[in-house]
Amino acid sequence: MPPHALIFPLPMQGPVNCMLKLAELLCIYGISVTVLNTDHIQRTLLRHTNVLARFSRYRNFRFRTISDGLPDDHPRSSERFLEVFEGMKTVTEPDFREMMISGCFGCGSDNPVTVIIPDGSFSFVLDVAEEVQIPVIYFETVSPCAFWTYLCLPKLIGAGEVPFNGKDLDVPVKGVPGTETFLRRRDLPSFCRLNNVANSITEIILKEARYVPRAHGVILNTFQALDASILVHIRTLCPNVYCIGPIHTLFNSRFTTEPKPLTQTPQSDASNSLWEENTTCLAWLDTQVTRSVVYVSFGSMARMTVNEMFEFWHGLVNSGKPFLWVQRPGLVIGEYDVDQVPKRLVNETGKRGFITTWVPQETVLAHSAIGAFLTHSGWNSTVESIMEGVPMICWPRNVDQQVNSRFVSDVWKIGIDIKDSCDRVIVEKAVKDVLDVRRSEFMESVRMLSELGGQSVAEDGSSSMDLDRLIESISLL
Ligand code: UDX
Repeated sequence: MPPHALIFPLPMQGPVNCMLKLAELLCIYGISVTVLNTDHIQRTLLRHTNVLARFSRYRNFRFRTISDGLPDDHPRSSERFLEVFEGMKTVTEPDFREMMISGCFGCGSDNPVTVIIPDGSFSFVLDVAEEVQIPVIYFETVSPCAFWTYLCLPKLIGAGEVPFNGKDLDVPVKGVPGTETFLRRRDLPSFCRLNNVANSITEIILKEARYVPRAHGVILNTFQALDASILVHIRTLCPNVYCIGPIHTLFNSRFTTEPKPLTQTPQSDASNSLWEENTTCLAWLDTQVTRSVVYVSFGSMARMTVNEMFEFWHGLVNSGKPFLWVQRPGLVIGEYDVDQVPKRLVNETGKRGFITTWVPQETVLAHSAIGAFLTHSGWNSTVESIMEGVPMICWPRNVDQQVNSRFVSDVWKIGIDIKDSCDRVIVEKAVKDVLDVRRSEFMESVRMLSELGGQSVAEDGSSSMDLDRLIESISLL
């Protein structure tokens, strides 16, 4: 049977983005690929991107869709994201099972699937795959440091370190080997703050920690040099790890220096955005001084109150630095009257700010005017910032982001973690620290990591070799 990979992303911007990049990479190396998106994600992608035209160039590629079990008008926002998992449990899981057993992906179909690459949180996929004897390689789209805390979660619970009911957040955490000297309760994934472990999100993560090590392998969007101290621990439970990150850099590198003969040529316009991208911000960035602008974005799901938005806004304006702020629809919880926005904020923003709903982030971070990234510490944003040599100010919100921001500040030393605070004075100080006071220190560390990341995707680099190994495994499975 010719190799045929079924890629099944979690329906969120970050995971969809990097899994589509993986899909395209596999295609150009001659593997047949089907991407299984939820109907909702597919409709949104088609509205804002040219993915259909882009992927239609690959003869060995197709999209398929599956219901997420929710009505079209459901917001699928961060605070209601568990409803997506519930919808998937009641509707997606049985539909997926049917597709794999008797339907379009089964062994009786004309192009049966030979390997499944689902998001790490889709435990149900392994159950079905074991039934039909198809190997699974999970793609953990969260950071390795957060994934490692997931794997340690049963022991943390057993030792009484989790849950801690949101209390004494500076107490050190002892049960995550490799992080004992710097990890505090506040740096554990957000759900550890709940007051008991009998909740849906903890159950999903505990299941993930049991299931992922049982799969044939696990793909991580990192490179060996970035996460060596954590990978050594992950490998004790998941021996077959493929570190093929930074996946966007690996992907982009295939446009320039191609070490292996390709069966097809990749396209350069690779946007996978779920919102319309505003590209006029690039012309605005062209008018700004080198390394002077704070890029502000809280990713695709994170939300903030009106009060928090104003604290950030004041802090940015008070810093005196230019800023480009992505205010995605739904970012701010609740309404506010535009007439209530202080005149000073409006005037100063007119002079030094640019606010928009969505931007081509990779291009923005690569622009020479960007000097700092005020981010929610989503894993894709973190890796993209590292690769463009941009230091970060981290304001994490959910799941893995709390861990990522601690690694940014205390392991890689490439930025400042302001988690659990939202105050204009702190924001102003963090901006000035990153852009002026501690600029050379952060720039040097992030440039070094960026160089190591670049080396990892070069021919014979660790990520290139892991991609080769992944392709070989898929071909042999
Ligand atoms: C989610 C989780 O919140 C995160 O913690 C986890 O690590 C991955 O999934 P998300 O909010 O989607 O993350 O953030 P992130 O992982 O940073 O991905 C956002 C993606 O959207 C990035 O690839 C970024 O380049 C892109 N983006 C963001 C844009 O293209 N334009 C924007 O304006 C903002």
